[in-house]
Amino acid sequence: MNKKPSIWKYVLILAATGAVAAVGGKISQCIVDSMHESSVTPPLSPAKADAVAKQVLDLKCAACHSQNATYSKFLNFFSFGLMRNHVEGAKRAFTLTPDNSLRSGNVDYLKMDYVLRTRRMPPASYSSVHLGSRLTPLDVSALRLKYKESGAAARTFAPISPVSEPGTDLEAARIYLGYLLYHDGRLSTSDQVSCASCHDLTRGGTDNLPKSEGVPGVDGLPQLGGVNAPSTFNAAGNIRQFWDGRAADLKEQAGGPPLNPVEMGYSCIADWDRITAKLAQDPQLVALFAYVFGDRGISGDTITTAIAAYEQTLVTPDSPFDRYLKGDDKALTDTQKAGMKSFVDLGCATCHSGPTLGGISFEYINTHADLRTLATPEDYQEGAFGLRDFTKKEEHKDMFRVPNLRNVALTAPYFHTGSVNSLQEAVSIMIKTQNGATVSDATVKNITRFLEAQTGKLYGKPANALTPEDVKLNPQVTQP
Ligand code: HEC
Ligand code: HEC
Ligand code: HEC
Repeated sequence: MNKKPSIWKYVLILAATGAVAAVGGKISQCIVDSMHESSVTPPLSPAKADAVAKQVLDLKCAACHSQNATYSKFLNFFSFGLMRNHVEGAKRAFTLTPDNSLRSGNVDYLKMDYVLRTRRMPPASYSSVHLGSRLTPLDVSALRLKYKESGAAARTFAPISPVSEPGTDLEAARIYLGYLLYHDGRLSTSDQVSCASCHDLTRGGTDNLPKSEGVPGVDGLPQLGGVNAPSTFNAAGNIRQFWDGRAADLKEQAGGPPLNPVEMGYSCIADWDRITAKLAQDPQLVALFAYVFGDRGISGDTITTAIAAYEQTLVTPDSPFDRYLKGDDKALTDTQKAGMKSFVDLGCATCHSGPTLGGISFEYINTHADLRTLATPEDYQEGAFGLRDFTKKEEHKDMFRVPNLRNVALTAPYFHTGSVNSLQEAVSIMIKTQNGATVSDATVKNITRFLEAQTGKLYGKPANALTPEDVKLNPQVTQP
């Protein structure tokens, strides 16, 4: 039986929304979960939800959001290009057949929840003409349920989990070896540039430079990289590594810089032999490699395995935001709480979500305005096209791996361009490019204060006050 939604259901929704608004300060990791799943009574069975959702997507969304959605050029002309913008924009923002290698299911759920909560979809300019496309409360509940199921853990935010102590001496030794290699200049042709040169743990895991300085070029000056260096803190949480996603994981990533002519100076796979030959002259390292890797000895493979094991430990839990998520209401100031609410209301959390506030999807940087136009000087030369540089697929042009926003107050300058020094300006630019909204200066400031609450701790010390001494690892391993 297809029950007509009664007026009471609308009242219920309003009441639920009001209740949520009233405890606005209490928004926690379950902000999304707490939203009205009860808007349809009796609760939808999974089978019914699935059937309703499928119908809604086919009839009310697919016209714009299916991969092969098209529009009539003739009618588009009479709509002053609106149809084209709708279809092209829709395909970029959200597809009904997502590529899960480029986006965690959680992100899809959050995006769906966001448009349902804000009633953004179908766009008003469309549903005012196609009246039947408006969503009923039943449609809304069915879509929420369906997407919640596909989301791995359908929560907006989650605290960062601290790393567990190494279980065995062997594990501890592997991490310690990774630590030594991470700080070892011998991975570069000049013997001077280490991972830590560009990912300094006392600088939020970055170099705080617009473009990183690699080994010297022919003129004797450091060569500059093409994009800004992201932090190695919490990089373990990234769906793939690099702005363009060209490395699947930390191990594959760690093989990149040594063989990058601009960064550490070597250039081909065979050059690993030159690096291992240098390391093989160091008896302490040789012994450690033998202990950790046995017969596998020193090679590109074992070097990158050890570095990745060390990077897995570079997580920064216990930020004020983490403490808030765990129930300490006083961990955030009222301004920061207001900032968090705006962060959710403006849809920032549809991309910057999960434990690291980002890192789990690739997204276009020119949806409502082009980030490069707003963030770069006029003489800026476009050098990076994001995911397309890796996949060579034209539709991936301008899609970048969303950076994580943990410790973001420490990682200036911002964006892949490294061209924005102030966090507040970066926030303001994001609002223009990713939301298109106009907001007050106070809102921008509040969000910035909220992001400042993302500074966590490494080895129990605040990441903004780490000294070189603090980031030293001791060899708490049974020496071979
Ligand atoms: C007339 C075309 C059109 C229809 C129909 C349409 N959308 Fe959209 N959709 C868009 C456009 C354009 C965008 C990107 C701009 C924006 O976010 O406002 C978008 C964006 C989205 C996003 C991403 C929002 C974000 O913040 O990242 C989701 C999710 C979405 N739509 C879901 C839906 C659902 C569900 C339906 C059906 C109920 C639907 N859309 C129907 C045009 C459409
Ligand atoms: C000369 C500076 C430089 C050196 C040396 C360097 N990196 Fe990087 N690193 C960068 C830059 C720049 C990027 C971004 C490049 C890109 O996305 O195309 C990056 C990206 C990364 C990422 C990806 C982070 C993310 O969010 O996607 C990780 C992890 C990383 N580097 C670890 C390392 C390790 C481990 C080493 C040593 C083996 C190292 N880096 C050496 C500059 C450097
Ligand atoms: C549609 C996905 C999406 C949404 C929504 C979004 N962002 Fe971003 N954000 C990105 C991407 C992608 C980048 C990287 C852009 C680049 O460097 O080219 C980014 C970068 C940033 C940065 C710079 C981080 C760094 O380390 O360089 C900040 C700060 C930021 N976003 C904050 C926000 C805020 C605040 C909002 C809400 C107004 C928001 N974002 C909404 C995808 C998104």
